[in-house]
Amino acid sequence: MKIRSVIRATGSYLPERIMTNADLENVVDTSDEWIRQRSGIKERRIAGENEKTSDLAVNAARAALDRAGMKASEIDGIIVATTTPDQTFPSVAVSVQKTLDIPVCTAFDVQAVCSGFVYALSIADNFIKAGQLKRILVIGAEKMSAILNWEDRTTCVLFGDGAGALILEAQTGEGTSGIISSHLYADGRLKDLLYTDGGPGTTGQSGHIVMHGREVFKHAVNLMAQVVEEALETNGLTAADVEWLVPHQANIRIIEATAKKLKLPMDKVIVTVERHGNTSAASIPLAFDEAVRDGRIKPGQTVLFEAMGGGLTWAASLVRI
Ligand code: UT7
Repeated sequence: MKIRSVIRATGSYLPERIMTNADLENVVDTSDEWIRQRSGIKERRIAGENEKTSDLAVNAARAALDRAGMKASEIDGIIVATTTPDQTFPSVAVSVQKTLDIPVCTAFDVQAVCSGFVYALSIADNFIKAGQLKRILVIGAEKMSAILNWEDRTTCVLFGDGAGALILEAQTGEGTSGIISSHLYADGRLKDLLYTDGGPGTTGQSGHIVMHGREVFKHAVNLMAQVVEEALETNGLTAADVEWLVPHQANIRIIEATAKKLKLPMDKVIVTVERHGNTSAASIPLAFDEAVRDGRIKPGQTVLFEAMGGGLTWAASLVRI
């Protein structure tokens, strides 16, 4: 019997501390006006010094488990998309497993930067459709503040911390809900447009984010529109069939330009960038959870996730809730 991967529940977590654009005016030579005009960001959350990516991930996972009314022991897979793991190894996924007391299962991290969550979702979907796993925690969690150069105004004003999670569950029988298709891409020739200037195998430090913003911007709009069109075409759909677009939240101008290319009105697009900034792999599940909880995204609706990030990587997933 055909197995579908259904989103059983969502959850998310934001650190308590809010850093506004006005706060950043005291850190680098910038202004609230520049940040809002160029990116749409008004504020972002910053994790506490002792708050690790795995702590953010655990809180988001707990919220998803609570909403599903599911015990941690029912989970048989944990996939965490992150660029900011607590340690080089072990994975954030095994820290989540330990804290939540999840018994022996499949657990690992995925590194595809801002596209990481869509990559993780697609991997989880394949495990489920292959009949290998039944209930997977798929998490995007980031402490981007830990890899920012707080003297570089071209990057430090753009990013934030947070985590989002969902539980993907195997279902059989009648029904159309579930992950419809995912489309994952990378082009390593563009790897020097967005990177960290260090790593365990080179400097022995994590390094800080370096970004050629204007070039990344152009690629972002084109690549995300392309991959979304592919997702629709593959399934014989058009943008009119999609109730919601949940894009990676890097910049309101990128989100608006992509929506325009797809001829999707902005009232069908979930936007959190003004309050969250760019939380890399956490941005889609954070935005998705918010819109599920406030009732905008409803069962039966068709939702598109799209992302683009360092690598460059880009990806889309079409989902029926
Ligand atoms: O999530 C992964 C994917 N990442 C992205 O999608 C980000 C893509 N890029 C962007 O979102 C935009 O390119 C940025 C928001 C990063 C920058 O916006 P922009 O309109 O491309 O600005 P720019 O880089 O062309 O810079 C314009 C000016 C420059 O000054 P000059 O050379 O024109 O005199 C910058 O030095 O703005 C200056 N600038 C700033 N001024 C005040 C750069 N950062 C700041 C700042 N405050 N924080």
